[in-house]
Amino acid sequence: MTLRTIAGGAELRVVADASALATTAAETIVAAAERAVAERGAFHLCSTGGSTPAAIYAALRSTAFASRMPWRQTTIWLGDDRFVPRSDPHSNLAAIDAVLLAPHADGSAAPMSTAQVEAWSTETPNADDAARAYAARATAALSINESGVPIFDLVLIGIGGDGHCLSVFPGSPLTAPDAPIAAGVAAPTHIEPHLPRLSFSLRILAAARAVLPLAAGAAKGEVLARIIDGSEPIATLPAKAALLPTATWLLDEAAASKLTGR
Ligand code: 6PG
Repeated sequence: MTLRTIAGGAELRVVADASALATTAAETIVAAAERAVAERGAFHLCSTGGSTPAAIYAALRSTAFASRMPWRQTTIWLGDDRFVPRSDPHSNLAAIDAVLLAPHADGSAAPMSTAQVEAWSTETPNADDAARAYAARATAALSINESGVPIFDLVLIGIGGDGHCLSVFPGSPLTAPDAPIAAGVAAPTHIEPHLPRLSFSLRILAAARAVLPLAAGAAKGEVLARIIDGSEPIATLPAKAALLPTATWLLDEAAASKLTGR
């Protein structure tokens, strides 16, 4: 495992492959959960969509981590979701429903209950109203910072090929420092799936106690080099907002292959 400090005082951790990434992410989540429960009696994880979380949830459920995880004190939120019903396979809840809320193939009970997963309200007809309601739920349930932004114990983010994170795409008003905490997002035309989204703005990143950006695979190499080594602004590359001293960028070798200083 390679470790070094990168832009913004963030830590970079490079592991061999996607499987090591899932295990290392699970270890980070369990450690954050243990700390949060010891200090505040509850753990609020803000998870991500995309392709990486399913393997992380499976790792958390494995014997190596499941007994250490304070499941009963844990609440899972999502940084963003597609504005589709929960039953739609494009919902970011699909992986949580399948891996954390379902009984295991070996017959073991689900480690969490539906009430412990805070879902964006995709039945509300207006996306901005749905997003505002979610932000209000988060600010009521969590501590907030001096600007009223909820403080998650740990925020996981995936990195899009265009440099987005959450559903904050390049050029989005949600990149602004005074953006609303959450908003509806029109369906992107340049990134699949072409579905409207609900998303927190970038403001939750700096407010969080810890941030874990995750990326695996060679297809992410170029955009990661632009984000980590380049000088483009956050408005162009929203994931740059996660170059924070509280962040650990967890990449596999392939995703890190275009970075300088390796
Ligand atoms: C979403 C995500 C999004 C995702 C990135 C990376 O709902 O689409 O939250 O921000 O994390 O697009 O996705 P992958 O991990 O699939 O590359």
